[in-house]
Amino acid sequence: MSAVPETPPLLSDAARSRIERELAKYPPEQRQSAVMSALAIVQDETGWISPQVIDEVAAYLGMPPIAVHEVATFYGMYNTRPIGKYRISVCTCLPCELREGGKAAAYLKEKLGVEFGETTADGLFTLKESECLGSCGDAPVLLVNNKRMCSFMDNARLDALIAELKEAGR
Ligand code: FES
Repeated sequence: MSAVPETPPLLSDAARSRIERELAKYPPEQRQSAVMSALAIVQDETGWISPQVIDEVAAYLGMPPIAVHEVATFYGMYNTRPIGKYRISVCTCLPCELREGGKAAAYLKEKLGVEFGETTADGLFTLKESECLGSCGDAPVLLVNNKRMCSFMDNARLDALIAELKEAGR
């Protein structure tokens, strides 16, 4: 009988080292306090939070997998399915909606040919609807890959952003 090949671990040494730095902020018996950071760190490397990621993070932090799953599915910043290289989250909450957030979202849908939650055929862009990004005065606003905030996104700025990301994503 041949041995079943082991699935390689998803947590790289670099990810473990970053998680250890987060763990150092909490008492040793409170390892679960680093769960949000750990998920963000792994997502930076893997692009999304797969069931295997959930199991590995749970094992690493000494938590039940279901508790990690609950965190991963509660917060909008975690991708629990594979997504495009660039996740564009457009705020459509009321303050932004009153200042053309909806118009920016509609323009992006048209330009990229996708609806919210969908990924372009080339795998570059996933469009998401976002809750308030805390920058209501700068509407329309969007967030790229949970890290880059873009403000006052009129059509010209949206065109420039998409062109820049397409170039970088080649
Ligand atoms: Fe859009 Fe606050 S409502 S950033």
